[in-house]
Amino acid sequence: MFVSDCLGLNDLGHLTIGGRDTVELAQTYGTPLYVMDENEIRRACRSYFDSVKKYYGGRGLVTYASKAFCCKAACKIVAEEGLGLDVVSIGELYTAMSVDFPPERIFFHGNNKTVQELLAAIEYGVGQIVVDNLTELELLNQLAISRKKAVSILFRIKPGIDAHTHDFVRTGQIDSKFGLALETGEAMEAVKEAAQMKGVTLKGLHCHIGSQIFDIEPFEHAAEVMLNFIADIKKETGLALELLDLGGGFGIKYLPQHDPVEYDRYMQRVALTVRRTCEEKGIDMPFIVIEPGRSIVGPAGITLYTVGSVKEIPNVRTYVSIDGGMGDNPRYILYQSQYEAVVANKAVQPKNKTVTIAGKCCESGDLIGEHMQVQDVQVGDIIAVLATGAYNYSMSSNYNRIPKPPVVMLRDGEARVVVKRETLEDIVRNDLL
Ligand code: LLP
Repeated sequence: MFVSDCLGLNDLGHLTIGGRDTVELAQTYGTPLYVMDENEIRRACRSYFDSVKKYYGGRGLVTYASKAFCCKAACKIVAEEGLGLDVVSIGELYTAMSVDFPPERIFFHGNNKTVQELLAAIEYGVGQIVVDNLTELELLNQLAISRKKAVSILFRIKPGIDAHTHDFVRTGQIDSKFGLALETGEAMEAVKEAAQMKGVTLKGLHCHIGSQIFDIEPFEHAAEVMLNFIADIKKETGLALELLDLGGGFGIKYLPQHDPVEYDRYMQRVALTVRRTCEEKGIDMPFIVIEPGRSIVGPAGITLYTVGSVKEIPNVRTYVSIDGGMGDNPRYILYQSQYEAVVANKAVQPKNKTVTIAGKCCESGDLIGEHMQVQDVQVGDIIAVLATGAYNYSMSSNYNRIPKPPVVMLRDGEARVVVKRETLEDIVRNDLL
């Protein structure tokens, strides 16, 4: 009935998440409020874990892309589910290490890692550092030699795939800041250089073609391109790469009409492509890694707001102003992302209003969405925006010095705060005179 399985209705006609009344959660913890259902996150982890096991016969690993939603609780849940972790900054790495995430299951990404970040990755002993460019390769090799550590690396490759998604979240094409190009010979050059180096060992390749992708074909195509390159490397240098990381990017349902591919089907089709290409090219099947972020946490989260004003402009539109906005959800202003909204305390009623939900920042573009269908909304109502578990809290800001909302996590219906609400003291904490 709603976009995520963890959502429902109760006897009062209120929206529920993980079996809990959202109106009651809003009363208890205040708004704006992020609520996440841990059971849903664990279900997603298990479904990926089982598929990879099934189709790659244990020769695979699911790493959660922590940029989608990173906090200590998220890292701990993912660790308990046996997944690996993709981090892209020292902040994400530090969060993971603060809950003793097994470092060998961590992959460190990023197109411009600092010396501090590379050193931290070496010292913590992260499993793989995903090297983006030749400058980083040189630097990492020197740092590894100076610390007398053996460092395993992957190369980030641009497979030249054009996935149909928003421009800002498309990354596989040649005009991208990420990775080494195949067409120009840059990637092969990097492989040959790495093969000569003493500080680093090249274990494999990585690609990530984009995010919120609904088709399977671009993933199959990317797997083929990457395996062809692995075969070329073997032919040209004799080096047999043992790991292939195919990235994340699997789309989720934000709107009722969205129809994402089931992860198991995706895995089955890509695994077939992987096996077939390996046979054709006469190479051993590499260990396969995938890196879902959005699809692990997105459907598990909602954001609750209180309506502060309803402004009807005749023949133009109705603005419904809420107590949050682009500070806690910048995805509309950035990508015109679409969400489903529900008046949580009237969730059982028909949606008979078309409104624009506006945030409280001093910015006309600060909207959660336009042309949104909602129930008969009034001041004081609780609005729930659905499927906000990914890239909302993690991309939140303090624009206009608005404190960030807390995150409440539900496990079997039991609620606990996993990120506290920011206080006004937090807002001025780093200010000096
Ligand atoms: N691996 C790499 C190297 C990535 O760059 C990303 C996402 C992922 C995995 C996970 O992709 P996912 O499964 O979550 O699609 N802020 C944007 C999304 C940016 C994605 C960045 N990279 C948004 O809110 O839509």
